[in-house]
Formats: sequence, structure tokens, C-alpha cells
Amino acid sequence: MASVSTTTPGADWEYAPAPESREIVTIRPEYGLFIDGEIVPAASGESFTTLNPASEEPLASVAQAGPADVDRAVAAARRAFDQTWGQLPGRERAKYLYRIARAIQERAREFAVLESLDNGKPIKESRDVDIPLAAAHFFYHAGWADKLGYAGFGPGPRPLGVAGQVIPWNFPLLMAAWKLAPALATGNTCVLKPAETTPLTALLLAEVITEAGLPPGTVNIITGDGSTGAGLVGHGGVDKIAFTGSTEVGKEIQAAVAGTGKRLTLELGGKAANVVFDDAPIDQAVEGIVNGIFFNQGHVCCAGSRLLVQESVAGAVLDRLKRRLATLRLGDPLDKNTDIGAINSRPQLDKIEGLVAAGEAEGAQRWSPPCPLPARGYWFPPTVFSGVSQSHRIAREEIFGPVLSVLTFRTPEEAVAKANNTPYGLSAGVWTEKGSRILWMAQRLRAGVIWANTYNRFDPASPFGGYTESGFGREGGRAGLAAYLHA
Ligand code: NAI
Ligand code: MG
Repeated sequence: MASVSTTTPGADWEYAPAPESREIVTIRPEYGLFIDGEIVPAASGESFTTLNPASEEPLASVAQAGPADVDRAVAAARRAFDQTWGQLPGRERAKYLYRIARAIQERAREFAVLESLDNGKPIKESRDVDIPLAAAHFFYHAGWADKLGYAGFGPGPRPLGVAGQVIPWNFPLLMAAWKLAPALATGNTCVLKPAETTPLTALLLAEVITEAGLPPGTVNIITGDGSTGAGLVGHGGVDKIAFTGSTEVGKEIQAAVAGTGKRLTLELGGKAANVVFDDAPIDQAVEGIVNGIFFNQGHVCCAGSRLLVQESVAGAVLDRLKRRLATLRLGDPLDKNTDIGAINSRPQLDKIEGLVAAGEAEGAQRWSPPCPLPARGYWFPPTVFSGVSQSHRIAREEIFGPVLSVLTFRTPEEAVAKANNTPYGLSAGVWTEKGSRILWMAQRLRAGVIWANTYNRFDPASPFGGYTESGFGREGGRAGLAAYLHA
């Protein structure tokens, strides 16, 4: 990789380190729960540690919410729904959401550094993608708050009540924004549970919410592991559950919610096909392939983890892809030149290593650029498998890491059949010069989001969500509002 000059053809110089300073962030040794507008310890006194996955350095001790804390948080959210937030007209709710959006922008560097420390993602991604998009979600939904009566849901659409929201570790602040912004815009109150490896930016958001002056209990943030999430999902006082995470847990949640009358949206895993035709501009497609699977270390539910490339250009695409991968820089997430950061946790690294070993055992050819890995922390080099067949586990299972499986096709029909040969249906990419072919493919690909000549592009106005084992319900856009309103 480029961090070692001798491995980059023709390069005889090193990048100088360009670390973003940590000084802007103050990490407290201990964090409590954010319930009814106050920071409180867990009733049990229990806590857990969140790490920096790039160094394995402990960052902070965080309260582990148990059943008594879930009760308190849900009760606070109910009070706020009945007495304060739930009574506000949309134009008043909008003011608070605009305030939160502006505060995220004002403190963007602080949020970005904290996100990269707690999650391991490169600062250039937290700075340029996660944090700006989180602010954009609050701005976008602030704009809806006073216009819901004109959005096609009838003249006076009603909120559901208390929303229980469980989010994953791959885009911690952004997923908090995807959950909170539409719920609040539509007049619901929230109990949010961040992931146990990445709670810190949600807790900084609690500070922003307090400063923005939201009525106590409107947003409650309870940290903890899966047991806390299960407690929230099973709580009788919650009207709606919104979950983003693994398909396995999504199925458990669907079973737990069945028959309770709670509304449910699930945004689960994926195994997206990124389809490159022989008429695609190859250099542009290679950038899209790299962005599709190596963005955020591949910890992306909509990652383009299966490259389907037309046989006549497969050799040329793979050659250029490998040359491009040799220029990616893996290392310190806080270095502004870093392209690939740390794997989020030891269990996630174990999962990636296990699936990569299965790929080799099943006979696919593994390739990575020369890539020295740091001695401490959790790391995995960008990896490409060629000679992959549809039955291989690496072509079927979500790896959720920087690992690309390459398959080939000859005809558009074969591309569609292979792309759809998956239990998932979250996203897909199509690379071709012909507009008619893009439309032909988009009609046949069974995926909630289809990108044409781009990949991993997000906008709060654009609904996002899947089919089948990728879940149901949409987030973003007008469709995302419906998930928080009575039909
Ligand atoms: P997970 O689904 O266990 O965790 C996601 C969130 O759900 C976390 O906040 C967790 O504490 C919570 N949770 C866990 N068990 C729960 C339960 N029974 N009830 C309610 N909440 C619960 O995901 P995990 O274990 O972190 O990752 C495993 C795999 O899941 C990954 O390798 C990846 O394939 C997939 N994944 C997909 C994501 C997506 O964006 N679609 C995000 C995270 C993981
Ligand atoms: Mg962490």
C-alpha cells in the first residue's frame, strides 16, 4: 500500500503524516444515561467500556441500562408526548430541529473526531460524509414539520407516540439522525439505544439536544448492549420500533413485536450487486467499485460487495481495480490521508477472517495489495476474491468488511439473474453508458435502492430501505415520514 513507498510503482516519496488533532474533543472518563433531560447513572450501577478500535485504547466507561432504566426512559418519553412535545404545533417543533441541525454543523469537527475515535472510521469520511449528512437529516425534517398536513397523509396526520429506536455501530451519529429527525418532526418522542461499541457521539448529541432546549423526555438516550435493546423492543409502553442492524436480530425483533400492535420498521443486511457492463467508463466504474465496498471498511449494509462484471471487460476492470487498490492508504483513522480505517471490533474482525478463510477453502482466489497492518488495533487489508461462484459463502453471506467478491456474466439477463440470486434486497449498482439499459436493469433488480453510474450516494430526500431479508419500511423522503404517522 502507499503508506510504504516501495510498494507503490513509481513512487519514491512518503506522505507526511497529517493527523487531525484530538484536542477539540473532551472525553469524560464516565458517561451516564440521558433520561428526562438529565444525565443519570444506571439503576444497577453497571457499566461497560468503549474502545478506540484503531489502538484498543479504552476511551470511556458508559452506563449499561437495565430494565428499570428502560422503564424510566419510556415513562419520560410518554410524559413528554402527552404534556409537552406532543402538544407543540409543527412550526414550533421545526425550530428545535433547525437548532439541532445548526449545532451539529457548528460542532462538526468535534463530532467527526469523536466518531473516528470511537468507531475507527477515517476522519475524511466522518468529516465529509457522516456528520454533514446527520446535520442534513435534521435540516430536511425540520422543513417537513409544519407541512405534514400537505404531504398527502390527510389534513391532520397524527404521530404514533413513543418510538423505541435501536441503531448499529457503522454510522453511529448518522443512524441516530435517521431515527430521531423524522420521529421528532412528526411529533413523536424517542428512546434511542446506540450500539455498545460506539455510544459516544449519541451522548454528545444529548448535549446538543439539551442546549437546543427540547422539553425533557422528548429524546432519551440509553446505552447498553443487546439486552438493553431487547428490553426496549419488548417494553409495553412503546408504540413503534425502528431498528437498523443484523438480519438475525431483525428477525428476533419481528417475532417479539408480532401481535403487540406496535408499528415496526427494519433496516437489515445486504449483499448488493454492483453490475459493470462492457460499455461503462472503466476508470469511473473502478472508483465506484472502490467506493462501493471499501468505504467505511465495508461496514455498510448497502455495500457493493458482489461485483458482477461483463466477461469481455473483466480482465481490464480487475487489472485497473488492483492498481487502484495499491494506492489506498490504511492506518490511523485521524490521519486526513487515510482511506481505510480500523475494523470496528474484535468480533467483527473474527467474522471477516472466518468468511475470508471460507472463501479460500471453497476455492476462490484471494488477493490484497501489499499492506502492512498496524501492530495494535483491529485491521483487515482491502481484499478481492476472483473466481467466485454463486454458491460460495463469500457470494451469499454479508461479510460487512473490506472484501469484494468478483463474479462475471455475459448477457444482461444473466446479470439480473445473478444479482437477484440473494435472500437480500437492499441496493444495487449499474454501470453502463446507455440510459435505456439502466432503466431496463432498474425494473428487474429486486432492490430498494439502485444507483446508476454512482454508488453509496445518500440524501435525506431520497427514501432508503429494502425488501425480503433486508427488511421493510423506508427512511428519508416523504416515505420515511409515513413510518412515524398513523395511516
Ligand atoms: P446487531 O444486529 O447485533 O446490533 C445492532 C444493534 O442491535 C446494536 O445496538 C445492538 O446492541 C442491538 N441488539 C442486539 N441484539 C438485540 C436484540 N435481541 N434486541 C434488540 N436489540 C439488539 O449487529 P452486530 O452483532 O453488531 O453485527 C453483526 C452483523 O450484523 C454484522 O457483521 C453485519 O453483517 C450485520 N450488521 C448490519 C448492519 C446494517 O446496517 N444493516 C449494522 C450492523 C451490523
Ligand atoms: Mg468504540
